[in-house]
Amino acid sequence: MKAFVVSEIDGQLWCEVGETTAVARDESDVLVKVNFSGVNYKDAMVARAPSQVRRVSSLVGGVDAAGIVERSRNPELARGDRVAVHGGSLGVGRDGGFASHVYAPARYISPLPSSLSTYDAMVIGTAGFAAMASVLALEDRGLERGAQVLVTGATGGVGSQAVTYLALKGYQPIASTGSPDESRWLLERGASRVISRQEIADRPERVLASELWDGAIDCVGGATLKEILRSLRYGAAVAASGLVASADLSTTLYPFITRGVALLGVDAVEATPLTRQRVWRALGDIAPLVDFGVLVDRVIGLDELPEALDDVRAGATRGRIVVKLDDE
Ligand SMILES: NC(=O)c1ccc[n+]([C@@H]2O[C@H](COP(=O)([O-])OP(=O)(O)OC[C@H]3O[C@@H](n4cnc5c(N)ncnc54)[C@H](OP(=O)(O)O)[C@@H]3O)[C@@H](O)[C@H]2O)c1
Repeated sequence: MKAFVVSEIDGQLWCEVGETTAVARDESDVLVKVNFSGVNYKDAMVARAPSQVRRVSSLVGGVDAAGIVERSRNPELARGDRVAVHGGSLGVGRDGGFASHVYAPARYISPLPSSLSTYDAMVIGTAGFAAMASVLALEDRGLERGAQVLVTGATGGVGSQAVTYLALKGYQPIASTGSPDESRWLLERGASRVISRQEIADRPERVLASELWDGAIDCVGGATLKEILRSLRYGAAVAASGLVASADLSTTLYPFITRGVALLGVDAVEATPLTRQRVWRALGDIAPLVDFGVLVDRVIGLDELPEALDDVRAGATRGRIVVKLDDE
């Protein structure tokens, strides 16, 4: 089969489209024929040398995919089912979705709601899954309709979908971006206001800032997450899923013990089957209201992956890059 293979040999990186064979790791693995995959920030971290994310020297990249079950011994996943595949070590420690076929354990395979095509599922991808999981985490914490929710990295995969889903659910997303030229695009996605990355800091000499946000969805981390924690309203929460700026977090305990705020970790990789079912159902429920086309940066073939991965590393994308393997 045709696949995008990432290899590190003697510290040198090789990324090339070539012929390889899909191999099951376990006889219970499910074989999925891939229609679409997507380009994630993690894919860009896998395709570099050295990589802190990649766990093997050579593999087929792609941390998510959507397609049709071709072979399965699992009673929950029948041949012909439309599914999304993401999580575990897919595209990180075992062959991933940048190929015409992928084997994965059933635990990481979710049947798609009837309202979502496999194309829609990869416009959503791991990023959209994390965005919706973040919205649900804030709702579980008591987010009220009309609430002002800060979204950082707003033009990215997680951020742009968080803005879209928050707006469609009746909240007011405030989009923070380092790409001011994309303000109009963000307003069209449903942002009630667009602010620059720099605007989040407020009176840095104080341990606490003004109470600005009823909630926040952050995929940036580092100093941005620290500033969010200082500026959440009393009792509010931030759902944190990413670390594009930094994995470090330097904060005081004041936001937690004097304002009762919460830092909610969001993870799509080892999310339980129950969580996956809940998030994909929520995505399916909102799908009829979503214009998936406008959430797409571009649709590419395997050959165009190197350039797309460079753009993701440079933060030069707007929404999701979808990789087309085969039509539904
Ligand atoms: N926890 C999970 O399960 C999970 C799932 C999916 C993704 N993630 C993580 O979430 C993060 C975002 O993923 P993604 O797919 O949305 O990536 P993406 O499409 O590359 O978007 C990231 C966005 O962050 C902003 N950004 C980039 N570099 C920045 C910097 N140095 N400082 C501040 N902002 C910066 C840019 O938006 P603006 O120009 O608009 O600011 C960029 O578009 C990554 O760390 C990824 O690994 C985690």
